[in-house]
Amino acid sequence: MKLTQEQKKFVEDLLSRMTLDEKIGQMNQESPSIVGGFDVPFSELIEMLTDGRISQEEFGRLMATAKQDFHEDDIRAGLVSSVMCNDPRQNNALQKIAVEESRLGIPLIVGFDVIHGFRSVFPIAIAEACSFDDALFEDTARMAAKESRAHGINWNFAPMIDAARDARWGRVSEGPGEDPLLGSRFARAKIRGLQNDTSSLKNYVAACTKHYVAYGACEGGRDYNTTSMSDSQLYNVYLPAFRAAMEEGAATVMAAFNDLNGIPCTVNEWLLRGILKGEMGLEGFVVSDANAIRECVNHGIAADDRDAGIQAALAGMDMDMGTHIYKDYLKEAVQKGVVPMKVIDEAVRRILSVKVWLGLFENPYVPEADIEAYEKGLPAEHIALCKKAAGESMVLLKNEGGVLPLSRKQKISLVGTLADNAEEVCGAWAMAWKKEDCVSIRAGLEATGADVSYYPCGGPEGEIDFDEADRACADADVIVAVVGETDAMSGEASSKTDITLPGGQRELLSYLLNSGKPVVTVLMNGRPLALGWEAEALPVILEAWHLGIRMGDAVAAALLGDITPSGKLSSSFPAVSGQCPVYYNHPSTGRPGSKSKFTSRYLDAPWEAVFPFGHGLSYTSFAYRDLSVRETEDNLEISVYLKNTGEREGTEIVQLYTRDVAASLVRPVKELKDYCRVSLTPGEEREVRFTLPKKSLGFYNNDGCYCVEDGEFRVFVGGSSKDTLEQSVTLSF
Ligand code: GLC
Repeated sequence: MKLTQEQKKFVEDLLSRMTLDEKIGQMNQESPSIVGGFDVPFSELIEMLTDGRISQEEFGRLMATAKQDFHEDDIRAGLVSSVMCNDPRQNNALQKIAVEESRLGIPLIVGFDVIHGFRSVFPIAIAEACSFDDALFEDTARMAAKESRAHGINWNFAPMIDAARDARWGRVSEGPGEDPLLGSRFARAKIRGLQNDTSSLKNYVAACTKHYVAYGACEGGRDYNTTSMSDSQLYNVYLPAFRAAMEEGAATVMAAFNDLNGIPCTVNEWLLRGILKGEMGLEGFVVSDANAIRECVNHGIAADDRDAGIQAALAGMDMDMGTHIYKDYLKEAVQKGVVPMKVIDEAVRRILSVKVWLGLFENPYVPEADIEAYEKGLPAEHIALCKKAAGESMVLLKNEGGVLPLSRKQKISLVGTLADNAEEVCGAWAMAWKKEDCVSIRAGLEATGADVSYYPCGGPEGEIDFDEADRACADADVIVAVVGETDAMSGEASSKTDITLPGGQRELLSYLLNSGKPVVTVLMNGRPLALGWEAEALPVILEAWHLGIRMGDAVAAALLGDITPSGKLSSSFPAVSGQCPVYYNHPSTGRPGSKSKFTSRYLDAPWEAVFPFGHGLSYTSFAYRDLSVRETEDNLEISVYLKNTGEREGTEIVQLYTRDVAASLVRPVKELKDYCRVSLTPGEEREVRFTLPKKSLGFYNNDGCYCVEDGEFRVFVGGSSKDTLEQSVTLSF
């Protein structure tokens, strides 16, 4: 995000004409209230649902009569800067009030959670990251931006780029996995896709990189929990993706709910003013997470709402999401000199800058024709991109005996209720899909003309029907079992202590295996699952995540060989839940895990992931040879030969890792430094080259200083973090 001098002048001129009330109004994000239809406050209704005093059905009935209150009078009075709404006509109406009825006519910035697509829903981020396809990351973001603008949304609360190493945390589904480099490349691509096509106001939105910072390190994988770590860990693992996003010009950032080393991010001046605005140079503004300023009282860092609001403003929090605390207390704080006017002016300047950059003062409205176009249906190119993204995000974990791909002549018994549920394909944080756009795995398979019969047999919830399973086994040449999680089992507030397949799905799989028929397991899940038993017992496992509206087409194409899986895991899968957190880029320890007793291992479980970061198979096979490393003045020139040794065309994601063997801080046993996708026909061999700047071999120390140190480095290249060729090189800088 860059402003012209003219735009900067416009902002200064407008700021100079604003009253204190109007300035504070720009720092206020109004979340819609839900009103009517019930005689208790909405928050009480949510409590009643949560503690079971009313059923989901009763809640739905009550909500059917409710409406959203967007606080129109406050908008008219210039006291609201932003709303959250995904209805284009409602957004036009609210903009009209702000622009035509308030004193200064400042338009609203309209935010919404468009994390992996709006109505064209793409794979959840942990899945899309498995494609290691930066161009795809950017393309899906660009399409999400266009669909957002066409619905009056000009601010996406995305990308979520929290590195996460603990799959017990439900929000691991929302981000690009465990690795800082993959996360950084994902972040860059998403910012480019959301923000860079400024050729038309219809093509770009303000990104909101989140959650700043280290939310994924919540203790025990328990959502909203405390996080604590060394500064070097923060700088080397959790900040890189945000640094990358800032370098790409991300317009806004959302602060995380968690405290970091005892100070909540929401009121953490070192993080907000020191690192984010100072070191990284954020040009736009920081918004709190929902209700997070108020929650600083719960954290125990603020005595009351007023104290929390003052701390947040002084720490550099520019906009308050949904608490009214800025609106209620900042004026008095400024009048008493507790919060200097320059703090207010800085926040408002940042917010107005984003609104000017978005072109909202030129035209905040959605043309009726654009609204009607989407009401007629999704454009074909949008659907095609959904299919492409879904196809590249699947990961073939196992394929013993080459059972996949299936032949269309085989009689397929499709088992599992998830297979027939088109409402489960989008995953967490998808709120604008339409059922008519969604394709279940069953529908996708049936559309191919394959000989498929469906047997529900059960799923993540409820009982398993073994009689139905008997019928499925009797009729089949091959059984395709779709098992996993519902979309509600991952995402926000969905941490779990047991991340094995929920319900009786493991028993169902075991029962199907006992039939003696070939069993293909398709996983539909939002988080890495503990697959210790499955990795041993199941011959074929296709990780299909929640792939978005066209999941069914993509899975059917993969099962039948119309596409060849190419994805590689963006996150490690543990054998058992108790292994979490588990990740590939871990320190060695003084006693690296081994079968020997006195080493870093468990008595009752493996110490390594059952499926490691970067792992993924194909329907063909690849061989690597002749890794070479040549030092030049500034770089390492790395080369390897890759050959397709199978009978089908395929794409391999070649991964480059390094290790700093002895440094002034303990370093990981491997760190991803680059990757590329290479497509080869059968028998084709190609030299794959990487140019690795030597300065990228450094790390941040506990003073936040970036160090590149002399010594031995190991260079690894291969098709996963585990299977690599290796060379050593000794460098002096
Ligand atoms: C939620 C989430 C955040 C989201 C915000 C607005 O609590 O933490 O990711 O953008 O509220 O919906």
